[in-house]
Amino acid sequence: MTRAAELDLVVRGGRVVLESGTIDADVLIRGRRVAGLVRRGAVEVSGARVIDAHGRLVLPGGVDVHTHIGVAFGEFRTRDDFASASRAAALGGTTTLLEFAFPEAGETPAQAVRRRIDEAVGSSWTDIGFHAAVLGEAGPAALAEVEAAARLGCPSVKVFTAYRGLMMLELGDVLAVMRAAARSRSLVMVHAETESLVERATAELNAQGRGSSRDHALARPPGAELDAARSVLELATQARAAVYLVHVTLPEVASEIGAARARGARAYGETCPHYLLLDSSVYSRPCPERYVCSPPLRAPGSARGLWRSLGGELTGVHSDHCCWGGDQKAANADDSSRVPPGLPGIETRMPLMISEALAGRLALTEVVRLCAAAPARLFGMPAKGSLLPGMDADLVVVDPDARAAIGKLHMATDYSPFEGMEVRGRVDTVVAGGRVLVQGGLWQAESPAGRFVRRRRLAAATSGT
Ligand code: URP
Ligand code: ZN
Ligand code: ZN
Repeated sequence: MTRAAELDLVVRGGRVVLESGTIDADVLIRGRRVAGLVRRGAVEVSGARVIDAHGRLVLPGGVDVHTHIGVAFGEFRTRDDFASASRAAALGGTTTLLEFAFPEAGETPAQAVRRRIDEAVGSSWTDIGFHAAVLGEAGPAALAEVEAAARLGCPSVKVFTAYRGLMMLELGDVLAVMRAAARSRSLVMVHAETESLVERATAELNAQGRGSSRDHALARPPGAELDAARSVLELATQARAAVYLVHVTLPEVASEIGAARARGARAYGETCPHYLLLDSSVYSRPCPERYVCSPPLRAPGSARGLWRSLGGELTGVHSDHCCWGGDQKAANADDSSRVPPGLPGIETRMPLMISEALAGRLALTEVVRLCAAAPARLFGMPAKGSLLPGMDADLVVVDPDARAAIGKLHMATDYSPFEGMEVRGRVDTVVAGGRVLVQGGLWQAESPAGRFVRRRRLAAATSGT
């Protein structure tokens, strides 16, 4: 047996799940980094803290690239902040967040990025980075700030084709952002729904007195998502930009991403646990407003198709976390267009996906790929998403034999769309940057030490786009 000098933490005896396979290994940690992955018991540790992971799975910490923390939407503001959201994320096995920096009135995109970094550092328990956003219109100043944000370590920019008057850009402006992003080697993230089609469907429902949350699935029809997806994929091809469709709900949209790739475009997409595990039947349950999100939950066949696209056209599963309280959701429940959109899910994303893997629906290595490794690569975080030596020591220890119904959670809201759902596996221990945040399912850490993640730009395009 060899002795390892100056280790701080050893996660001993677990089955380590990497993207490339699983191995029985001890994870050696020195400071913030993984110092080694060694055969169980091969290294004698003295002086290091030891976490016993026998009978447990050890996964890289989750990377969630789509969250909305402490943000305003119309008349509402989400109930969480960086401290509560990142704590809930960690309790659910996510150790890196990428959040949006939406400019507030009078603010430029880069000013918003700087403000959000300042707010998060010192509050966030997990590492955190930001996406820039161009909202409302894409004038020359905002376009120039795509490059400014990339220089700040935020080489991704969000645009919306929906939410007229709040965030929506006309397609000409989307094209302009894509050109700017292509020059800056930034990724363009798009919320793709054609607003005029949503408006038409909503007006027709209202005329029939059917504008409530119960009919939300009809108010934002599949055709609106498909139409917008086709347009933005075409614009990205023209602009030679890399494009990422957020919260894809339809297998047809996933197929469009695949077709764009076949034409040489750099096109990617994500979906969310709620689109994989819930469907539009929730709008017939009590409190349908709690499931109002854009795009809405779809017919069950869509979820089945999305599962087939995971790891192919769809490169990630992310939460699109929006921490509205049940009262905020209920305030305008009879008019779904006025219900703040989005679902809380920063804490449940990893447990749900791990549970699906333990139930045999996908491999654990796929969970690592979809929820950590692939997003870390695409979003320019080379030290995240793996437990190979030299990587950030962010990991989750899971008890695969535990089973429980989703009940009490830690997000700053009073409900979960997954309440009562039976999950396999339990997040037992969470380490972020070498610090133990959670052990035995209980919070351990005393002060938030999450760092701002300065991300790399995309690789230069070689051919095609
Ligand atoms: O309904 C959703 N998805 N709300 C959050 C904002 C967005 O569109 O991503
Ligand atoms: Zn969206
Ligand atoms: Zn979102």
